[in-house]
Amino acid sequence: MQHREQTVAFVQAKRREFLSLDRRRMGVWEAMEFLDRLVDDSDPDTQLSQLEHLVQTADAVRRAGQPRWFILTALIHDLGKILCLFGEPQWAVVGDTFPVGCEFSEKVVYHELFAANPDRGVAAYGTRLGIYEEGAGLDNVLISWGHDEYLYHVVKDRLPDEALYVIRYHSFYAAHREGAYDYLMNERDRQMLAWVRTFSSFDLYSKGDDRPNPTAARSDYEDLIAEFLPGELAW
Ligand SMILES: [Fe+2]
Ligand SMILES: [Fe+2]
Repeated sequence: MQHREQTVAFVQAKRREFLSLDRRRMGVWEAMEFLDRLVDDSDPDTQLSQLEHLVQTADAVRRAGQPRWFILTALIHDLGKILCLFGEPQWAVVGDTFPVGCEFSEKVVYHELFAANPDRGVAAYGTRLGIYEEGAGLDNVLISWGHDEYLYHVVKDRLPDEALYVIRYHSFYAAHREGAYDYLMNERDRQMLAWVRTFSSFDLYSKGDDRPNPTAARSDYEDLIAEFLPGELAW
């Protein structure tokens, strides 16, 4: 579904629909508890709830002695999945992300499914660069719609650049794991992607470990939230 439906027009429509951020106001821990109602079927290799996954990833980052902004990033990185609870189908929320408006890379997982994407019939989108310029920077590239981009907009003005970058591109596996789409990136992207790779090792590594205990961890993480993202956020 995702490979077929994520077109330039779809991404633009979803941005208009959700980036007004006028659905709900919630603090971070409240959003974590809200998200915990969701069962994510894209993730069969973890038995953990959404809240447990966030706490476990943050625990792993903390144990590794990473900076506090990075622990916070781990704690919130999947909160954008609350889009599912706003009625969005999972294929439009979770899964790998990729640029639209240019040729789909063969390094995107299941790339053969792009054959059914209507943008394949649009000449302007069919070349290596499509509607972009060489080295434009990912900032200037439209990425398929999902929980990464949504959460990025929710916290955009309030976290360090590195944190925002990890949040925004952690599902862009073709880039940070496979090295695809380098021609759309600038120097800043190449530097920042190192943080995404580091983050990714915790996001995956932590799957299948012992069950974390969100209740025990709560007061520590409330302090961390109060430091970076106090009060309510607009969702
Ligand atoms: Fe994620
Ligand atoms: Fe995750």
